[in-house]
Amino acid sequence: MRHASGPLSTEEGFHWVAAMHRLLGISGSLRRDATNRKLVREAARLYGEAEYAEADIRLPLYDGDIEEGLGIPEEVRGLAERIAASDAILIAAPEYNKSISGSLKNALDWVSRVDGNPWKDRPVAVMSAAAGRGGGEVAQYAVRQALQAFRPRIVNGAPVMVAAAHSEFDGDGHLTSKSYIEALTQLMAALRAEVELLGRR
Ligand SMILES: Cc1cc2nc3c(=O)[nH]c(=O)nc-3n(C[C@H](O)[C@H](O)[C@H](O)COP(=O)(O)O)c2cc1C
Repeated sequence: MRHASGPLSTEEGFHWVAAMHRLLGISGSLRRDATNRKLVREAARLYGEAEYAEADIRLPLYDGDIEEGLGIPEEVRGLAERIAASDAILIAAPEYNKSISGSLKNALDWVSRVDGNPWKDRPVAVMSAAAGRGGGEVAQYAVRQALQAFRPRIVNGAPVMVAAAHSEFDGDGHLTSKSYIEALTQLMAALRAEVELLGRR
């Protein structure tokens, strides 16, 4: 259920109604049926009550000539604004040849060129899904490393690295394994606690 922020008038008087947490999901894989898209949506579901939106990282390739000649593309500015307007960010990373996907790195690089730093002190949960047995562990740590320079608050809940990811989601896109659901639930609880600790909401 959606709540507006501000005093609510009831028969008993005024109650302060907390605004919903605003989550932004980023799938490091662009394809429509990406397991990482399913994972980031599962994360939002398990976070509990919140407003959820998904970022589009289908951006032009970073090119200094575009930046100098035309300026930072509108869609990059829009992404930076969405990050800045969120209480927490969920990033699900695929593993491409033992590292971060080019599209995700490209998005991080573009956003780093926008004035200000929308990541600063923002709670972030990083997770991964991959075909391999490691569940994208190497890529996940590469994402954490790439984010470090922006000084977000990356939460360290239970690690979520979904291995053999193609067989881990049902037809509705839900995780089927109890252990992954538990780990993701724990990670989301850590993220919610971080948002509340910061008093963002
Ligand atoms: C270019 C490329 C490189 C890949 N390299 C790895 C890898 O290093 N480790 C791994 O576990 N899977 C690797 N895979 C398989 C991906 O894990 C698999 O395609 C996965 O489903 C991608 O995530 P998605 O479902 O969110 O698109 C690779 C796939 C591609 C397309």
